[in-house]
Amino acid sequence: MIISEDDRRKILPVASGKGGVGKSVLVANLGIALASFGQRTVVVDLDLGASNLHTYLGVKNRHRGIGNFLADRSVAFSDVRVRSPYPNLDFVPGDVLVTGAANLSHAQKRSVITNIEKLDADYILLDLGSGSHFNTLDFFLISNSGIIVTTPQAPSILNAYGFLKNAVFRLLQQTFSDQKGVSRFLSDIVKERQPNATPSIAQIVEGIGKISKRAAGVAREQIGRLRTSIVVSMADHPEDMEIVQSLRALIEDRLQLEPSCLGFLYYDYIVREAVNDTVPLALVGRDSLILKEIDRIAQKIIHSERFPEMPLDLEEYEDSFALATIEAEDDYGSINPHPGMRLDENPDEATVEEFIRLISAQKQQIRELQGTIHALTMGGRGQE
Ligand SMILES: Nc1ncnc2c1ncn2[C@@H]1O[C@H](COP(=O)(O)OP(=O)(O)OP(=O)(O)O)[C@@H](O)[C@H]1O
Ligand SMILES: [Mg+2]
Repeated sequence: MIISEDDRRKILPVASGKGGVGKSVLVANLGIALASFGQRTVVVDLDLGASNLHTYLGVKNRHRGIGNFLADRSVAFSDVRVRSPYPNLDFVPGDVLVTGAANLSHAQKRSVITNIEKLDADYILLDLGSGSHFNTLDFFLISNSGIIVTTPQAPSILNAYGFLKNAVFRLLQQTFSDQKGVSRFLSDIVKERQPNATPSIAQIVEGIGKISKRAAGVAREQIGRLRTSIVVSMADHPEDMEIVQSLRALIEDRLQLEPSCLGFLYYDYIVREAVNDTVPLALVGRDSLILKEIDRIAQKIIHSERFPEMPLDLEEYEDSFALATIEAEDDYGSINPHPGMRLDENPDEATVEEFIRLISAQKQQIRELQGTIHALTMGGRGQE
């Protein structure tokens, strides 16, 4: 399913374990940013059943979309690619006009995937629904350059990990779908699955190796090709990178993946204002920090030859996570939080206390997550 690595087009599926973390805001504005830097870009609303990407782009929902393509044979995929108000940016709407596309048949899903692979563009961004539905995992695996969005909150972090684990497992299921022995071994794992008692990916690959050494090699190779990157969203403080580093450790240890960190977005009140006023952020937030942060992600994507494993100028930094930490520290002075949380203008005691409470709550969450990771990696090796 994964397209060849020398494919010039770059398909970037954007997913999350938990809903409401800022995927659609990122996809819309990253699409606008890539297009503004001269890249022919298409953003596709694949959150079927809950499509809302048009609102973030400032496009009226009167255009036919994937729902029409699936419901009406006379509608070609090229008919649902519409121009956006931004030069170089096209948009494929979801199923706002014709609903019911959420429960795609296998053939419908294949047809959508094939048509996305054929789209002529420099970058194709896919706005996915949240969670680990099979269809979402299959859309995520269209390309090896998936982006996972998470807030620094522990539930979001753990769900991001859960999503990636499901994606790796799904990749193995796809890879071995026509190899009976391995395929049966994988479905037995699903059947026997019990809470907190599923084998790690390393153990699954080991199990595959007992059936066929060659198959285990193929499994390792396929997993190794996944170049997943993380975008942190709605952050409050540079220290939020600590919990992201914990997520990275968990992914590396348990999933045998080497994720990169593509960017760090602070919570920015202007995003809410734009949504509430139904105006595109690109119009009202031209000088905002959030758009600067998203521009930087676009630049990393465009300028890194081996995106996303090697962001721009990475040689100067330890790695992409260290770079994101430096960026988060640099940006901290310009954050635009909720007006009620402002500390820079005559802070009164209540506001400072509120802020301190917020930071301690975050620290507590980090401690809890570190405890979970410790339990997973030390106490329960082999069982999670
Ligand atoms: N950086 C941010 N700062 C402040 N608010 C944000 C930020 N990013 C997103 N939001 C707000 O959070 C809400 C959810 O954002 P969005 O719709 O992009 O999430 P999502 O992950 O696509 O959700 P879903 O899973 O439902 O599709 C929106 O109201 C948006 O305005
Ligand atoms: Mg969304």
